[in-house]
Parts: sequence; C-alpha cells; structure tokens
Amino acid sequence: MSKTKIAVFASGTGSNYDAVIEAAKSGVLDAEVALLVSDKPNAKVVEKAKQNQTPTFIFDPKNYDGKDAFEADIVEKLQEKEIEWVILAGYMRLIGDTLLKPFEGRIINIHPSLLPAFPGLDAIGQAFDAGVKVSGVTIHYVDEGMDTGKIIAQEAVQVEDDMTREDLQKAIQKVEHRLYPETIQQIISRGE
Ligand code: GAR
Repeated sequence: MSKTKIAVFASGTGSNYDAVIEAAKSGVLDAEVALLVSDKPNAKVVEKAKQNQTPTFIFDPKNYDGKDAFEADIVEKLQEKEIEWVILAGYMRLIGDTLLKPFEGRIINIHPSLLPAFPGLDAIGQAFDAGVKVSGVTIHYVDEGMDTGKIIAQEAVQVEDDMTREDLQKAIQKVEHRLYPETIQQIISRGE
C-alpha cells in the first residue's frame, strides 16, 4: 500500500518540519512528506527542504493579487501531488476558504500554548509576559478562525521560576517535536 501523502506548510526555521521528516524516516510516522509549502522564499525551512529533496512550492504573496489567488495555486499543487493531509508547522497565515473548502477537516496546526489561551502571534512571549506557571502545546484542526479549530491534543509545560523566555521556547519546542509526529500518525491512521 502506498504511504499517506502529507504536505507541510512552514514559514520559519522548520524545526517541526525536521521532526516530521525524522519521524517519517524512523517509522514513527507512516507517511510521505510529498510537499513543503512556504510563503517565505528565504526561510530556513526552504533550504532544509531542498537538502532533504522534499518537493517544494515556494511563493511570494507579493506576486499575487490576494489570498484567493495564491491559495488557488496551492490547491492546484496539493491536488497534483495527491496530498491527503495538510500539516501547518509555523505557517503564520490564516487559511482562507479557497484552501479550507477542498481540505476541510484535513488541515491541522500546532500552536505553542494551551489554547484557547494566547492565540495568534508570539504565543510563547504572551504566556511568558503574563507570568503563567503552566503553558504548553496544542494541536488542532484548522477552521476559518485564528487558532480556534477543534482541539486534537494538548500537553502542558511547566514554567519554572528561573526560566527565561528562551528556556520556555526550548521546553515547548521539545514537546512539539515529539507530540506533533505522534498526533499526525494517530490522525492519519484513523483516517479522520
Ligand atoms: C512552532 O513553535 C509553532 O508552534 C509555531 O511556530 C513555531 C514554528 O517553529 N506556530 C504558531 O505560532 C502558529 N500560530 P519551527 O519553524 O521551528 O517549526
């Protein structure tokens, strides 16, 4: 049987992309990363995808006439590659109807807080500044809202008194890199 094809969307460093790739190599994740989509041509993750020979669709939103136009191109690529699941891993844009409708219930996101606390940008900084004693990681289905879709998995991370913002980021990302591949595997094996 051929492996489930997934696409990873990322705009940053790509440490979660790395974790997904590693999990696919080691067998923790029974899927093929058949496409990396990025809206940031100079992002580190784009370089990593090229090194790993992951096929890419890299675009610059400036070259398009708005979200509908670039999402139409993304959908075309996803369909061409027969992608079944879209995995957002630091893709910092709201998903619009053009992409959401054909992939409804098949787009998941990871967010570095215990949603519904601290949605949106810089969740780790928001939690740190708020002085919470517990934050964590949420994996959820994507809907039209900002980090509002149905929650699939969460894991708490303690914020110790002597932690810096960077320490908290490291602790959260360590959880992300284990929890995301495991959760993706559960979802795709249930075919939900
Ligand atoms: C991750 O921590 C992810 O949770 C966060 O972006 C980071 C990407 O890091 N996503 C969001 O904040 C989404 N709202 P990475 O490029 O090293 O994987």
